[in-house]
Amino acid sequence: MTVTTREILPTPLDYAGLDRTELTERILEQKAQRNAVILGHNYQRVEILEVSDFLGDSLALSQEAADTEADTIVFCGVHFMAETAKVLSPEKTVLMPDPRAGCPMADFVTGQALRNLQAKHPDAVTVAYVNSSAEVKAHSDICCTSSNAVEVVETIPEDRTIIFVPDRNLAAYVQDKTGRDNIVAWDGYCYVHDDLVLEELDRARKKHPGALVVIHPEAREDLLAEADEITSTGGMVRMAADHDALILGTERGLVDQLRERYPEKTLVPLSGAAVCGNMKMNTLSKLAWCLDHGRHEVTLDEEIRCRAERALRRMLEVSGGWTAPTAEQEELELAGVRPKGCGCA
Ligand code: 13P
Ligand code: SF4
Repeated sequence: MTVTTREILPTPLDYAGLDRTELTERILEQKAQRNAVILGHNYQRVEILEVSDFLGDSLALSQEAADTEADTIVFCGVHFMAETAKVLSPEKTVLMPDPRAGCPMADFVTGQALRNLQAKHPDAVTVAYVNSSAEVKAHSDICCTSSNAVEVVETIPEDRTIIFVPDRNLAAYVQDKTGRDNIVAWDGYCYVHDDLVLEELDRARKKHPGALVVIHPEAREDLLAEADEITSTGGMVRMAADHDALILGTERGLVDQLRERYPEKTLVPLSGAAVCGNMKMNTLSKLAWCLDHGRHEVTLDEEIRCRAERALRRMLEVSGGWTAPTAEQEELELAGVRPKGCGCA
C-alpha cells in the first residue's frame, strides 16, 4: 500500500492551483490507499479518462459497478450514474468529485409525478431510462440504457401498455424499432442531443461525404431517420475502432477522446456545440480533492435503494451481466421474504 506524505489541502480551489502531474500523482496514491476504483463516463475530460480504471457507457459502467471488488467507487459522470453504483453496490463507499453534476434530463421526472401518471395507467409496465433518479427507478418495473432499450422493451408482453420515462426521443426510437403503439412517453429530453439539427448534419456531410453518420438515440426522430447507425456512446467507441471516417451525433467530448486515440482517422462531431456542461463539472482538481477528503459521498434511503435495485437487476439480467442469486437467496425469494432480483434480505 502506498502511504501519502503530501499535505491535504482544504478546498477544491486549492487543488486547482496544482499542476497536472501533481494532481495525477495524488489521485493514483489515494486511489491505492483507499482501494478505490475510478469509473469514468465516455463524456469525461481526457485528463480524467487517463486516471480512470474503467471507461464506458451507462450500461458498461453499471455492470462494472455491480462487479468491482474495490471498497470505494469514485464516479466521474453525473449524479444518476453515481446513484446507480450505490444502488448496485450498497456496501461500498461511492464518491462524486462534484455533487452538482446532475443530468437535466433525469430531473424532468420525479417519483411523485411518475406515480400520478401510473395512477392513470394502472396496468402499465414502467420502463425507466437509467438517466433518472433512484426514486424514479424505485417506482419502475425495469430500467434500460440507450444500448439495451429495445431489448428491454421486447421482453414486455405486447398487450401491456408501457410508461417510458423520461426521454421522449428514446421512447420514439424504441417505438419505431419495436412497432409498438402502446408506449406512453414522458416529455423529457437531453438538451445536448435534442439540440442537434438537420442543418448541422447537412453541413458535416458536405464536408465529409464518405463518412458514416452515427447518432445517439437521445437525438430527435428526424435526425435519427438520417443516421447510418444509431447507438450508445459505447457503440460509437467500438465503431471508431473499425471505421476510418465517422460523423458522430453526440456530446463532443467523446469525439475529442476518439480523435486522440485515432489521430489518423476522420472523426468529426455532428455539432461542435454539443457539450454537456454537467458532465464537464468533473475536473482533475476536484477528483484529487474528492479522493484526499473522501467526499462527496452518495447515500440513499434503503427502501428506495432496494426497490431501485430490483428494476436495475432486471435490466442487467436482460443484458447479461447479472449474477444469478445464491441458493439461499432463491429460497428467500420463493418464501417471499426477499423480492426477486433484489440485493437485500
Ligand atoms: P450512454 O449510455 O450511451 O453512455 O449515454 C448516457 C448519456 O447520458 C448520454 O447522454
Ligand atoms: Fe444528461 Fe444529456 Fe448530459 Fe447525458 S448528455 S448527462 S443525458 S444532459
